[in-house]
Amino acid sequence: LTSAPLDRLSRPLHDLRISVIDRCNFRCPYCMPEDQYPRDHAFLRAADRLSFDEIERLARAFVALGVRKLRLTGGEPLLRRDLPLLIERLAAIPGVEDLAMTTNAVLLPQHAQALRDAGLQRLTISLDTLDADTFRRMSGGRGEVSEVLAGIAAAERAGFTRIKINSVVMRGINDAQVLDLIEHFRGSGHIVRLIEYMDVGTCNGWQADGVVPALEMRERIHARWPLRAVIPNYRGEVASRYVFQDGIGEIGFISSVSEPFCGDCSRARLSADGKLYTCLFARDGFDLRAPLRDGVEDAALIDLLATRWRLRVDRYSEQRAELRNDGRLEHVEMYRIGG
Ligand code: GTP
Ligand code: 5AD
Ligand code: SF4
Ligand code: SF4
Repeated sequence: LTSAPLDRLSRPLHDLRISVIDRCNFRCPYCMPEDQYPRDHAFLRAADRLSFDEIERLARAFVALGVRKLRLTGGEPLLRRDLPLLIERLAAIPGVEDLAMTTNAVLLPQHAQALRDAGLQRLTISLDTLDADTFRRMSGGRGEVSEVLAGIAAAERAGFTRIKINSVVMRGINDAQVLDLIEHFRGSGHIVRLIEYMDVGTCNGWQADGVVPALEMRERIHARWPLRAVIPNYRGEVASRYVFQDGIGEIGFISSVSEPFCGDCSRARLSADGKLYTCLFARDGFDLRAPLRDGVEDAALIDLLATRWRLRVDRYSEQRAELRNDGRLEHVEMYRIGG
């Protein structure tokens, strides 16, 4: 029987995050620092990336195993040509209940309406600060905060509501600007989520002292706008949710470092070249492109995925200290699997 596999820690497979391209128009220091990612780094060629046919086929196989949520990521997913065509095909798969995308928003003014029309349900937009200089620094000199705000406005016009605004907080860089960011979006209906700077990838030179623990941020915010915790939207939700006591909106905290949430992790990730990663911090992925291109039958493909999931033991965030002590510091880069 290949339906609804559980992994070795009894976790179901519910969520598939699909990276459609490994390129990005930003060079965020926590992800793809300009001076660190290998100079000779070669991005994938178009022929190495999964085609829309291949992505759809895999998505259908994952849905057969219990996946109900799909999220498109990159790099920057809007750099992939004709993305709305893929969205249309994914939105049409019976069993897909949630279809979302994570983007840095710069290309949304051109694409938001087409994405919406194709059936994209939700948008998550990365925005680390409203301060123009800090933003330039945190996008590696590639972006302007005004472009992101224009992208958000375009998304609103296209009909996206309750947009998640994801903000990676780095101590001494943007942590003093968190309250301004929250104030800006209070009352907009959008949901700011503060993310602890994580040791994902290998090239960002992560140091623990760059992390601002969620508790510290929460206390700072609570002192200004009292907060109240609310229950998760679904089992294993990544962010812990809070609402403002005055009723003007919601925020979230993603505390992978200080309060790991591996216990309920039901997320699989697919890189643009068709490797399956069962953890954000995995070093290697499992190649699915070769069997696809060798003509694997549907049943065998589903079986293969189920087997990989059943073997899964990942819980990196809970083991971070031990693994780092053992020198196990190599992880797939975030721009390959999109966070
Ligand atoms: P919703 O579907 O709206 O709940 O979004 P989500 O929280 O599942 O997805 P999103 O892409 O918005 O996740 C936000 C950020 O949380 C990502 O960019 C990552 O930085 C981090 N994150 C997401 N999933 C995981 C995970 O499984 N493990 C860890 N350690 N971090 C994660
Ligand atoms: N720590 C935390 N989040 C990160 N992201 C990328 N790199 C990191 C990191 N080192 C996440 C951010 C960004 C998304 C695309 O990936 O949320 O918005
Ligand atoms: Fe920044 Fe996202 Fe691009 Fe990474 S993929 S450099 S986090 S915009
Ligand atoms: Fe899931 Fe790995 Fe993140 Fe833990 S560290 S929540 S297992 S992706």
